[in-house]
Amino acid sequence: MTVALLFAGCAGNHDSSSPSESNDAGASSAKAQRVRAMNQVTDHHSYARPAEARITHLNWNASVDFDSRTIQGVATYDIETAEDAQRIVFDTHDLTIHGVSVDGQSVEFNLGDAQPFIGSALTIPVTPGAKQVAIDYTSSPGANALLWVEAQGDRAPFLFTQSQAILARTWVPVQDSPGVRFSYDATVQVPEGLMAMMSAENPTEMSADGRYTFRMIQPIPAYLLALAVGQVEYRSVGDRCAVYATPDLIDKAAYEFAEMEQLLLAAEDLYGPYAWERYDLLILPAAFPFGGMENPRLTFATPTIIAGDRSLVSLVAHELAHSWSGNLVTNATWDDFWLNEGFTVYFEQRIMEAVYGRDVSEMLATLSYQGLVDEVDAISDLNPDDTHLKLHLQGRDPDDGMTAIAYDKGYFFLRLMENTVGRERFDAWLSNYFEEYAFKGMDTERFVVYLKETLLADEADLTAVRLDEWIYGPGLPDNCPQVSSARIERVDATLAGWEAGDIATADLPWNEWVYQERYRFLSNLADDTTPERMADLDAVWGIGSTGNNEVLFAWMEQAIRSRYAPTYGRLEAFLIEVGRRKFLTPLYRAMKETDQMDMALDIYGKARPGYHSVATGTMDALLDWPASEG
Ligand code: BES
Ligand code: ZN
Repeated sequence: MTVALLFAGCAGNHDSSSPSESNDAGASSAKAQRVRAMNQVTDHHSYARPAEARITHLNWNASVDFDSRTIQGVATYDIETAEDAQRIVFDTHDLTIHGVSVDGQSVEFNLGDAQPFIGSALTIPVTPGAKQVAIDYTSSPGANALLWVEAQGDRAPFLFTQSQAILARTWVPVQDSPGVRFSYDATVQVPEGLMAMMSAENPTEMSADGRYTFRMIQPIPAYLLALAVGQVEYRSVGDRCAVYATPDLIDKAAYEFAEMEQLLLAAEDLYGPYAWERYDLLILPAAFPFGGMENPRLTFATPTIIAGDRSLVSLVAHELAHSWSGNLVTNATWDDFWLNEGFTVYFEQRIMEAVYGRDVSEMLATLSYQGLVDEVDAISDLNPDDTHLKLHLQGRDPDDGMTAIAYDKGYFFLRLMENTVGRERFDAWLSNYFEEYAFKGMDTERFVVYLKETLLADEADLTAVRLDEWIYGPGLPDNCPQVSSARIERVDATLAGWEAGDIATADLPWNEWVYQERYRFLSNLADDTTPERMADLDAVWGIGSTGNNEVLFAWMEQAIRSRYAPTYGRLEAFLIEVGRRKFLTPLYRAMKETDQMDMALDIYGKARPGYHSVATGTMDALLDWPASEG
């Protein structure tokens, strides 16, 4: 391959162009210019210098030990080097490195001091032309990506990883930057009686000896590396779709997600062929800190979306959409996170509209809009720059960027462009974008250039959109598209009537409402709703015992604010079982804001050992939990 051309970018910067594309890097086409621009992208959250030497394939040989809570591994990488390469640099965090070899020869390596969030650089000397690097290592029992869920009663132990944003480096030494892609294969030894799964081709049955092999031929960035180990069963729900879940949940999961294949077909219909062959879903223990994670071929999901009535599948639509926005066209750095999430929320909404109708998708959009406006207000008070689509995360934890800005401001920006150029043109443009940049990184600046050359080439459209205000400016520009949902408006009117005493509790249309309507009602109850009024709602509609976790969550948050004690037992049990941060943060915050810190700390003390680092990181800060306590 043409190494010299490929590494035309300056050292320390990224080059996400593919070898073949680099052949036209000398040409002055618009595309070549964009490729050159990409060479200038710097990822502040990675030590790697892919322009000097980069990984292309990982062969991972590992064994998982539940007793010591460690993964012992050898990561062997195929690498590509620039003509003058002297070193290859990996990201690590809390890894013990036992030895390193280059092309079979053991070499001296340097492991730098650990910095907050980003960990330590592992620097390995190479000469130009070096082909392979092998790193022998062990992860630490406190590795931030990993959650070891203890066996309990007849429940087997479980391990899962969460690598996004920069936690892959706590379980594999890797060039942990979203602009660096590699294919992989793996051999993983786990305890007998447990199944291992990765973001790769997966087994459908338990192996007799606890040994599993994996293959992922499409190149992925490190944040999409994933592993789960547990007593899990497989159930097919379509030609290309299946669910994996523990025995107690497999039937419920198969029912809940029976429509997965339909979502997949709708997605392909919108924006082109699915690139990853299979789309399966793994239901994790409730401690999973997110709703879902788009690990390629195998989305990881919280069991809290199993409602019994398929009402929470929009989360699956979201993670599925990432198979295009994010997993195919990938944000080049975490400052460009909106290119992953904003596009994905837009795509999710379009899937929901196609499968369940505009009525449902507009209710969801209306709820997003309310969440966005609230969050823009909250963030503007703290740091207005954090309301820009293009983020400024240098020196910070990229997790700080996981706000409604990337998701919902991003969504409304795309919706504005759709409104401006018309749906037909917008859809054709988006399909092209996914195709043209498949398996590549994209940063905001290059995206703006692309947008101006393609979708917004017409001056009038460009002016109407006000691109710079949206991307580099604060808050919500006043050309933000309006959403309206007649059903949500009726809920608001009903709530006003109930609060004024004009509508009796027994006359609320609770049983006619779908979850979005119930959620809207509960989340907009006045903060000072009395415990008597809460008791009334509970007695008539049994809200405190709902099986829908979104509704339950909204109910519990208001119960805290109303000091409605009969719900506190369920609240405590929920917070001990469920580790999904989206629920934890508002619930603990509500206790804090209403002077119920004793209860918050008491529950948190019991629940904390079961939470993932992503959740404890946020809750420790919220509740001023002493840093030294494990
Ligand atoms: N990729 C994200 C989860 C994520 C983002 C993990 C940033 C770590 C850092 C995933 O696709 C996601 O957005 N999940 C949402 C659900 C979605 C329906 C908005 C979640 O878990 O809340
Ligand atoms: Zn997402």
